[in-house]
Amino acid sequence: MSNNTYPLPFLFLIITLSCSFNFATVKSSTFDVIQFGAKPDGITDSTKAFLNAWTKACSSPNPAAIYVPQGKFLLGTITFSGNCANKAISITIDGTLIASSNYRVTSKASNWLSFQNVDGVSIRGGVLDGQGTALWNCKNSNNRNCPTGATTLEFISSKNIMISGLTSVNSELFHIVFNGCQYVKTQDVKIVAPGNSPNTDGIHVQLSSHVTIVNSKIHTGDDCISIGPGTNSLWIEKIECGPGHGISIGSLGWELNEPGVQNVTVKTVTFTGTQNGVRIKSWGRASNGFVRNVFFQDATMVNVQNPIVIDQNYCPDNKNCPGQASGIKISDVTYQDIHGTSATQVAVKFDCSSKYPCSGIKLEDVKLTYKNQVAEASCNHAGGAALGLVLPESCL
Ligand SMILES: *[C@@H]1O[C@H](CO)[C@@H](O)[C@H](O)[C@H]1NC(C)=O
Repeated sequence: MSNNTYPLPFLFLIITLSCSFNFATVKSSTFDVIQFGAKPDGITDSTKAFLNAWTKACSSPNPAAIYVPQGKFLLGTITFSGNCANKAISITIDGTLIASSNYRVTSKASNWLSFQNVDGVSIRGGVLDGQGTALWNCKNSNNRNCPTGATTLEFISSKNIMISGLTSVNSELFHIVFNGCQYVKTQDVKIVAPGNSPNTDGIHVQLSSHVTIVNSKIHTGDDCISIGPGTNSLWIEKIECGPGHGISIGSLGWELNEPGVQNVTVKTVTFTGTQNGVRIKSWGRASNGFVRNVFFQDATMVNVQNPIVIDQNYCPDNKNCPGQASGIKISDVTYQDIHGTSATQVAVKFDCSSKYPCSGIKLEDVKLTYKNQVAEASCNHAGGAALGLVLPESCL
């Protein structure tokens, strides 16, 4: 063998490697919004550029990537529509997307940014700034002519969604909504709005299954996470909540015919100074809905007004439901390893439907105190059992 000749098997190896390498890297095209005319100056409207980048990515037969570099991009309301030619669009955001500060503009639609009928979309990083302050001020001044506002980011009828490392600040209305979605993973998300900003729920899930929300920090003016009708197989883990109204299943039972909520796990959550901890809430109205197989596990309450609460007599201003019993049937709800401090004397409150009492409520290793003393529990139409150490003493 001469010095400049490689052994035959070695050449084969090189050829094989380079061929398979070429096959493995079928070009995934990247579309940088700047190429489409977006301006990172915070004042030029970049709506068209973002839409055009999306159209390219969506029509690409191969996996596609959209890139948003650093800077501020002003965007009007956008719907990213699906039925795309590929099932892998990854959106990487290094910059900040900002909504118009004029709520009359954004509020014309129910969402600022929405994805509809998409399959296989991921969003990594980025800041979404809903600029909700002016609308909250309007609402908080009791002006009756304020618009409802727009949700910052909504996924509608979509599946295989991943959101990672996204920050949403100051939404006009809800921050993030999953509506009619399957197989959603949300992780390392940060949500921030003031404690007195109205209706700024952190993440809302409805008519959706197999949604996972993990490792996220939610500080907002309404529910940190709210769970609407038709939610099943929802997994929530490692959440910091507060300020906010806690994690809430409901409000349910507004409609007579309403799909139920089942198989929900809420695990390892810290609630700090929130209005509620873990709550189930239904209107005092007739309904066919239900809540079953819910598991609240390992929660820390720090000065929470209602750490554990079921309220089936929700009827604000006594309008649309006075004197009616909730039709929502609540069963098999477990509270396990819930500890910390209550900001009010009644730390555990089960106020169930007189017509359909709650059943299969389980309290296991619960310790909640009020001002360093024993708190109280209150039960109405609630049945179940207590296991292990339960303080306040169970009223089930
Ligand atoms: C309950 O939900 C989890 C995900 O949170 C899922 O893995 C599991 O399969 C579901 N169980 C049933 C019986 O649907």
